[in-house]
Order: sequence, then C-alpha cells, then structure tokens
Amino acid sequence: MARLVRHTATGPYKIQLHELPPDKPVFICGCGLSQTLPFCDGSHKGCRAEETGKLYIYDVDRKLVTETRVDLEDEANRSVPE
Ligand code: FES
Repeated sequence: MARLVRHTATGPYKIQLHELPPDKPVFICGCGLSQTLPFCDGSHKGCRAEETGKLYIYDVDRKLVTETRVDLEDEANRSVPE
C-alpha cells in the first residue's frame, strides 16, 4: 500500500517543553522528510528550493523523484470525502 501526504512547511516547528531549559527547544518536523520523525533531522534543507505551485515527490530515502506543476489552490479548495 502507498500513500501521498501533502506537506507545505519547509522547516520545523519549534516547541518548548517545560521539563527542558529554555535554551533547549525541540524541533518537530514540518516538511515530512525527516528520517527521525516526529523530530527534525535537518532534511528540510533539501526542500528549501521548492517553488510555489509545484508538487514534489520524494522516495522512501527522501530523494527527489519528480516535480510537477500543479494548481495547488484548486486542489486545496476541493472538498474532502468523509
Ligand atoms: S522540518 Fe522536516 S527535517 Fe526539518
């Protein structure tokens, strides 16, 4: 079985845990490319050159397979089946 999940973030989400000192934030992956999910491992650097309006597909090794121009705004306005 395969699945496509759309991630539009190109960087991590910074969170602060009360148990850790303020200078030790935790970074949660927002790009979907991390090999250490849910934590960021720096793999997002590979998607920084992605252009708006294109769909990028990565393989399981997080290597770019293809890029395709798509109208993501139209796609976002489609209703999600229940
Ligand atoms: S945000 Fe995904 S690896 Fe950093």
